[in-house]
Amino acid sequence: MRKKHIIVKNLTKKFGDREVLKNVSFEVYEGEVFVLMGGSGSGKSTTIKHIIGLLKPTSGQIIVDDVDITKLSQDELIEFRKRMGYLFQEGALFDSLKIWENVGFYYLENTKMPVKEIYKLAQEKLALVGLKGVEELYPSQLSGGMRKRASLARAIATNPEIVLYDEPTSGLDPVMSAVIDRLILKLRDEIGVTSIVVTHDLESAFDIADRIAIIHKGVIYAIGTPEEIKKSPDPVVQQFINRLPEGPITKEIFSDIS
Ligand SMILES: Nc1ncnc2c1ncn2[C@@H]1O[C@H](COP(=O)(O)OP(=O)(O)O)[C@@H](O)[C@H]1O
Ligand SMILES: [Mg+2]
Repeated sequence: MRKKHIIVKNLTKKFGDREVLKNVSFEVYEGEVFVLMGGSGSGKSTTIKHIIGLLKPTSGQIIVDDVDITKLSQDELIEFRKRMGYLFQEGALFDSLKIWENVGFYYLENTKMPVKEIYKLAQEKLALVGLKGVEELYPSQLSGGMRKRASLARAIATNPEIVLYDEPTSGLDPVMSAVIDRLILKLRDEIGVTSIVVTHDLESAFDIADRIAIIHKGVIYAIGTPEEIKKSPDPVVQQFINRLPEGPITKEIFSDIS
């Protein structure tokens, strides 16, 4: 039986009196690529922000490696996060640092590793995401897609056991999306990394997922293998995966107009 690496149990989150996650529960196994898919505003980013402890649940548990991270102090959390890589949806590179410094940031800040070695490590990680010769540039000198890939290089710089990707392929051209998808699988197959990939890119999701969860308005509607998801009888799931303009997801949006 494979180990449960991440357990999200009855996660509920309110911002003010708006409930944006409602009893969200799922489990991610070690070495699995778990895709969390849903429309814009469905609660995907909010969910993974809880898994790295950037947000505290209103109620519910987040267990990573057998530790309930909602109970950790700020210092313990910072220590714990070292084993997780996180690719922010917005990229979130430091504008005033060069690309290699961004990628090597953890080592520059927290270790006595010689700068030359950090530079080399950054170069290797950048090469993995298809970026060469950008080490000395600043984020503003890169295209959006390149910045995204540089952020990904930073997310994997510390060889984390868990990587959380928030829309890793949005804004990338099809070929670069395929490069990133392949990298996610390579990290799983060669290092056994556990991944959660947040996306609304159906093609990419079905390509890379071991299992998929479909979230809509803070509620999980289905969890299963790509094949199981395709066969799901749930109307929300079917509307989403078949890109249908009409169905339960859009019912409320159009009810005002018609
Ligand atoms: N810090 C916040 N304060 C208030 N509302 C928020 C905050 N973060 C997210 N939300 C709301 O929660 C919902 C889910 O957001 P999010 O998780 O970012 O969606 P997704 O990543 O699926 O597009 C949205 O309606 C969003 O406006
Ligand atoms: Mg998001």
